[in-house]
Amino acid sequence: MQGSSARDSRDSRDIRPASGKLGILTAGLGAVATTFMAGVESIRRGYSQPIGSLTQMATIRLGKRTDQRAPLIRDFVPLASLDDIVFGAWDPIPDDALTAARKAGVLEAADLERIADFMKAIEPMPAVFENKYVTRINGENVKRGKNKRELAEQLRQDLRDFKAKHGLDRMVIVWCASTEVYIRPGPQHATLEAFERAMEANDEAIAPSMLYAWAALMEGVPFANGAPNLTVDMPCMIQLANEKGVPISGKDFKTGQTWMKTVIAPGIKARMLGLAGWYSTNILGNRDGEVLDDPASFKTKEESKLSVLHTVLQPELYPELYDSFSHVVRINYYPPRGDNKEGWDNIDIFGWMGYPMQIKVNFLCRDSILAAPLVLDLALFSDFAQRAGMKGIQEWLSFYYKSPMAAPGLQPEHDLFIQQTKLKNTLRHLMGEEQITHLGLEYYAS
Ligand SMILES: NC(=O)c1ccc[n+]([C@@H]2O[C@H](COP(=O)([O-])OP(=O)(O)OC[C@H]3O[C@@H](n4cnc5c(N)ncnc54)[C@H](O)[C@@H]3O)[C@@H](O)[C@H]2O)c1
Repeated sequence: MQGSSARDSRDSRDIRPASGKLGILTAGLGAVATTFMAGVESIRRGYSQPIGSLTQMATIRLGKRTDQRAPLIRDFVPLASLDDIVFGAWDPIPDDALTAARKAGVLEAADLERIADFMKAIEPMPAVFENKYVTRINGENVKRGKNKRELAEQLRQDLRDFKAKHGLDRMVIVWCASTEVYIRPGPQHATLEAFERAMEANDEAIAPSMLYAWAALMEGVPFANGAPNLTVDMPCMIQLANEKGVPISGKDFKTGQTWMKTVIAPGIKARMLGLAGWYSTNILGNRDGEVLDDPASFKTKEESKLSVLHTVLQPELYPELYDSFSHVVRINYYPPRGDNKEGWDNIDIFGWMGYPMQIKVNFLCRDSILAAPLVLDLALFSDFAQRAGMKGIQEWLSFYYKSPMAAPGLQPEHDLFIQQTKLKNTLRHLMGEEQITHLGLEYYAS
């Protein structure tokens, strides 16, 4: 089955152990990637706690409520240990991770100073990059080749070299690079053969991120896509992932405003309250904000952000409540804010007898602080999924994404709480534990 994440057997002994080293490579060594790497190293050295990471901090209930079994996920599931992680990256800007983190301005100097040696040693490999796809960035640390296929082959070689150099057992790629301009899925992405022909013909519809995805899958490396670009969300990549037995997931980390949306909208719907409109605006001053200031990159982001409310609220089932609400999303580049994004949501709802009410949310968040633990969880879970024999789309990782991938023809699930249940039930399933239905009648049987 295409895009299937089902597993034939439920015997946890089939899962390969997390022995040896795991390479986590990020495309992009900007604010998110450096905050992620700095955080993992700070945790390893005992300076910080892995706050925001389910793989490190969350528990999972097993069996009945009366059984009192709630181990940490990382004790229940064989995940790679933080001590076994080796980091790598590609970026068209040649800055090492320390310089890049300083420029990103997310972490304070004191937090970077004590891990400066570690951060300085992470230097980006030359990227596959074309300014046409991310217009606000220029960099000279870029691969050259006669066509896109040759560039993708160079990425495959990078993966092999990185694995050999660091004596790795396994690798995972997380796309933490800039949002590319909006590309519609076309015939070039329909099959693997068409995609490979298009790479050779230097077709414009093949963006750099797709070359990373192809290279990863060809090398059997799981790929998680933190940006809204299509990248692995195309029939040819789903086909390749299934053929090669590699997990893929995406798109677009669910961090600030959309995370809030997928918490609040299910609450409005659960109470059968109506929605007249939802106006969301953001001010953001980091490089991501600058890239998103380009209308073509913003269009990719907008598509990703707008899809959420319709699927949560299901206007087709509740036309009286959700048929005609307005949904507007704006991102404004405002340099003084740096990475500390401010989001405002004005939510116009209506209740009994149609009376209007308003909810206002003012979220002063830190984009990369929210995204970093998602990178860690996605890398560790993608690696685990592969060892558990999972391949293709990992719908159970929807929890982490604004615009989750789902099997063709299937509505993605956006409700954060359904996503969380799906994630935990998948872990229970893979480990041969009972599903939790929350029926609970057994506690009241006479
Ligand atoms: N921080 C969040 O909350 C959040 C949430 C959802 C999605 N994202 C996405 O994550 C991505 C990273 O965000 P950020 O704040 O770190 O941005 P950033 O601008 O700080 O870093 C992105 C880096 O990617 C590099 N890059 C661009 N094209 C590349 C390519 N082809 N290959 C390799 N590197 C490339 C850039 O040079 C830059 O250093 C963005 O696409 C953003 O939209 C972030």
